[in-house]
Amino acid sequence: EDFFSFSRKLTGKTVLITAGPTYEAIDPVRFIGNHSSGKMGFSLAEEAAKRGARVILISGPTALKPEHSNIDIHRVTSAKEMANQVFNYYETCDFAIASAAVADYAPEVTADEKIKKKEDHLTLNLVKNPDILKAMGERKKNQILVGFALETQNEVENAKEKLNKKNLDLIVLNSLREAGAGFGHDTNKVKIITQNSEKSFGLKSKKEVARDILNCIEDEFLK
Ligand code: CTP
Ligand code: CA
Repeated sequence: EDFFSFSRKLTGKTVLITAGPTYEAIDPVRFIGNHSSGKMGFSLAEEAAKRGARVILISGPTALKPEHSNIDIHRVTSAKEMANQVFNYYETCDFAIASAAVADYAPEVTADEKIKKKEDHLTLNLVKNPDILKAMGERKKNQILVGFALETQNEVENAKEKLNKKNLDLIVLNSLREAGAGFGHDTNKVKIITQNSEKSFGLKSKKEVARDILNCIEDEFLK
């Protein structure tokens, strides 16, 4: 396995990675979340660590555990907690990769007690969460900033728009059209887009996708 990771180009570099879902509390026992497994982010963390990087992994709820000793994991629950941890470390990193599936909205209020069932209809008011990646783009100094995009229509166009709007250096477009790709699967099919390049990859394990992404980052930004 290690056979494939020849590169030690990330030695001396710090890589910050967000991973997993976020859970937004409705009451003490319920939340709004999503099916992200965290596998993509953890694969990126392992691969970057093998290449010599010091990795700061900020992860939402997942059963996964990092293996490599170069990975410092900080576990969070909500988007707000993820944002706080990210900005504790953002200034010190050389590369930041946002692979977390951050909930776009959170309940406006979290009930102190478990909500009892009453009427036939229940309405929850949701408010927009901070866009962590966009905030990283706004505060960018020398960091190379990498984001993901999950699109179901006008994929490339929408991904390029995110690349520009969030001030990113590279964006990984996840294709959901392929059977076996994306959430809850061990495989992904991606397109890697920068300001002046576009590369398509086949359906692969998330470990292999992590290698492809880091190869692209090294080729483009570590000359
Ligand atoms: N992201 C983030 N904070 C958020 C929402 C998204 O850091 N509150 C990051 C994700 O980690 C990903 C990128 O932004 O790297 C794009 O996420 P995506 O859900 O595809 O895009 P959004 O900007 O949330 O827009 P939309 O869901 O409406 O397409
Ligand atoms: Ca979103």
